[in-house]
Amino acid sequence: MRRYVIAGNWKMFKTRGEAINFLLQVSDKVPSQYDVESVVCVQAPMLRDCVKRQGDNLRIGAQNMHFKDSGAYTGEVSAALLEELEVSYVIIGHSERRQMFNETDETVNLKIKQALNYNLKPIICVGESLEIREAGTTKEFVENQVVKALDGISKEACQELIFAYEPIWAIGTGKTATKEIAEETCKDIRNIIENLYDKETAQKVRIQYGGSVNPGNIDELLSQEDIDGALIGGASLDAEKFLYMVNAALKQ
Ligand code: PGA
Repeated sequence: MRRYVIAGNWKMFKTRGEAINFLLQVSDKVPSQYDVESVVCVQAPMLRDCVKRQGDNLRIGAQNMHFKDSGAYTGEVSAALLEELEVSYVIIGHSERRQMFNETDETVNLKIKQALNYNLKPIICVGESLEIREAGTTKEFVENQVVKALDGISKEACQELIFAYEPIWAIGTGKTATKEIAEETCKDIRNIIENLYDKETAQKVRIQYGGSVNPGNIDELLSQEDIDGALIGGASLDAEKFLYMVNAALKQ
């Protein structure tokens, strides 16, 4: 049995005050971490304030980090600092970072290794553009992203990872992938992992779907065999919607 992971990706939204208000609203209503892993990934300057207010149920994640220990990388955040702040998760390779901030399959791979060195749980984003979907090459495209992400990662380390399948055409557009489309690629990702490692590893890795997930579609997405949670942007900003979605995972 894989535990569901429901993660909010707040992107560059919410001030510190708004974030704290959200945490106060949800803190005693989020289910235990042992039933559902619930996470919100916030802007770096408010990580510390959010971690201080987390209970045993809701965890705080970062949205990015650098792959080097330290150095002259103006504006970047190190994994060592995230660990010191008691951040639990980190999103790696979100399509917005791949498209706008030069994130590549190689940096994604380096960042996964770095996150694991510092006890951070990576949420690794993969997913195709509309152009690739229409060309019919989604499977090959996503396979290439997954294989490159996992280069040099041991079987034991792989079992700790969380993948997020996020078709770019579904992010922030209100066009969610149907449950069948979402399941098809999540299953493909599990098969790729089985081919790279073994069945046991593939069965342990959690695979989320992301892209316009909201309270109206989360139940059917989570009902799919290979979908173990969701990475949620817009709808995760609202406390009531976030609570609905973590509880949807509890009901599965
Ligand atoms: P969305 O964003 O839920 O607003 O589509 C998802 C994401 O970018 O992770």
